[in-house]
Amino acid sequence: SRKTLIAPSILSADFSLLGEEVEAVSKAGADWIHLDVMDGHFVPNITFGPPVIKAIRNRTDKVFDCHLMIAPADPFLGAFADAGCDVITVHAEATIHLDRSLQAIRNLGCKAGVSLNPSTPETAIEYVLDRLDLILMMTVNPGFGGQAFIPAVVEKVRRVKSMIGNRPIQIEIDGGVTPETAPLVARAGADVLVAGSAVFKGGREAYAGNIRALRAAA
Ligand code: DX5
Ligand code: ZN
Repeated sequence: SRKTLIAPSILSADFSLLGEEVEAVSKAGADWIHLDVMDGHFVPNITFGPPVIKAIRNRTDKVFDCHLMIAPADPFLGAFADAGCDVITVHAEATIHLDRSLQAIRNLGCKAGVSLNPSTPETAIEYVLDRLDLILMMTVNPGFGGQAFIPAVVEKVRRVKSMIGNRPIQIEIDGGVTPETAPLVARAGADVLVAGSAVFKGGREAYAGNIRALRAAA
């Protein structure tokens, strides 16, 4: 059957040991490393930016999956590409000229993603599908780890899946993903699952088992 990828979000890692955490989670079976960039403006929290991403880049060869929760995003896309991001995702709600932002990401040699908040309809991306490599669907309101999964989004995941048709676009789910919620979105069409608290809980010895539990549930 179709393999669902697991992308641990380092938002839930120990920031004082970020390099070690990225190595540990890679060895524990992570497929991608999810990087949550927040600006305190588009979302009510601040995390890290290109220098921190660059500093951990050589700790793993996994895909660096960068989720930009910043407005504006365009002036910083080059810096995130230079820092070593492979996928760069902008929010539809944070980007006025979404078509232009997506072109800019591909022109930098990265995969282009768009993210939708739980309340944003899928029609927001109807006319940019051919510029997209990934659709990141939020199942929490962005800003913090450890929030509860919003079940209403599952129906939207189904709609997006059918809207994509046979285009090579991956659907990624972010927020409140646990072994209990993973099957709901996997069945609806998810290709990649982001998980912060469900991967990093229990300390380093638990990471491999936590990732295995998510994979098994999906
Ligand atoms: C929220 C972030 C998520 C978050 C997921 O704004 O985009 O990636 O870290 O954390 P959990 O899995 O704990 O909901
Ligand atoms: Zn995220």
